[in-house]
Amino acid sequence: MSLRTLYTYYVRELKRFPVVGRKGKFCVAGNLAGVKPVVNKLTPYIPGKSIEEVARELGVKEIIKLASNENPLGPSRLAMEAIQDELANISQYPDNTNRVLREELARRVGLDSAAIALANGEDNIITVVAQTFLEPGERAIIPAMSFPPYRTMSLVSGAEVVEIPLQDFRQDLLATAKAVNERTKLVFICNPNNPTGTGVSEKELTAFLNDLPRHVFVALDEAYCEYVEDPAIPNGVDYLKQGYNVLVMRTFSKFYGLAGLRIGYIMADPVYIEAMLKIKEPFALNRLGDRAALAVLADEEYQAQTRAINRQGKAFLYRELKRLGLQYVPTEANFILLDTGRPTREVHDQLLLRGVIVRPTFSWGLATHIRVTIGTQEQNERFIKALEEVL
Ligand SMILES: Cc1ncc(COP(=O)(O)O)c(C=O)c1O
Repeated sequence: MSLRTLYTYYVRELKRFPVVGRKGKFCVAGNLAGVKPVVNKLTPYIPGKSIEEVARELGVKEIIKLASNENPLGPSRLAMEAIQDELANISQYPDNTNRVLREELARRVGLDSAAIALANGEDNIITVVAQTFLEPGERAIIPAMSFPPYRTMSLVSGAEVVEIPLQDFRQDLLATAKAVNERTKLVFICNPNNPTGTGVSEKELTAFLNDLPRHVFVALDEAYCEYVEDPAIPNGVDYLKQGYNVLVMRTFSKFYGLAGLRIGYIMADPVYIEAMLKIKEPFALNRLGDRAALAVLADEEYQAQTRAINRQGKAFLYRELKRLGLQYVPTEANFILLDTGRPTREVHDQLLLRGVIVRPTFSWGLATHIRVTIGTQEQNERFIKALEEVL
């Protein structure tokens, strides 16, 4: 792969975001006329590259993607069969209440099904939460170095966003508590956190919640909760059952291997679910997603395999990173944040040329780290081999 190809590729990348910083006919001081000032100020969310994109743009073959924390096993066989069965019905709208899936989720966590709502991915849930709770001028508190949509959606709702830096790659709930004032409406906690994989303990979270004024809601993002091994990390649903003001958000994109279908859900007091349903798109979860989610919940073999492969992969990667003398952050999720000691973009690009897609970390302000998804044994070996070559 030549440097020229890489250059052409970056030029094309820049063209994907033509408005940013450009002055011209429709722009005043770099702002696109007519667009809300807050939107003009935002930087676009840049997801992990897809295998198709890298193959097309760089001409690299045999690519592995370890950039978006997807399930490396591919989808559950039962989920694929359920989708096949449902195909003949896609000319019909889905059940907008997702009754059967909600009842199944409710049964599993011991809640009333009225305490659950589903949407088009957890991203969509985060949007609905911000739109339902945040008024212009209110404060949202987020961890600085976490999942970017908390900031974006809070700003778009007109809220003031206060970012609390992590301490040793962990969310700092003591500093978060100090930032709470009478205007604070929403606090986002990501447990385990993306991109660090670290979790807050039950002791920390309980102390934090006990001191929180009643007008503040905690949006607890548990996108990776199914991977957690540390028993000190709590389950958000327990707080909900005890009557705390928590909104527990989860997804079928990671552990359940259905990222492409976009299935997220939220668990909260039914009165707040009812409020959110007023603004959620009525058919946010499509028929195929609804059926596939039900099927993968029943696929215990797939879940056991997913858990096992993540545990083994984590142990393998820890061992190999130690051998290479690289620092990493111990993880409770299906990805590892590691310090390569070299510029993140350069390591990312060099790995890309070897057909391995990882996540660079400059957008989180980390200059020399990368985030890598724990893959199958074969993928992990290939990643380590490529990384060793690059370094
Ligand atoms: C912490 C966190 N929350 C939410 C999501 C979004 O999940 P979904 O695919 O359901 O939109 C992600 C995806 O990367 C994530 O890392």
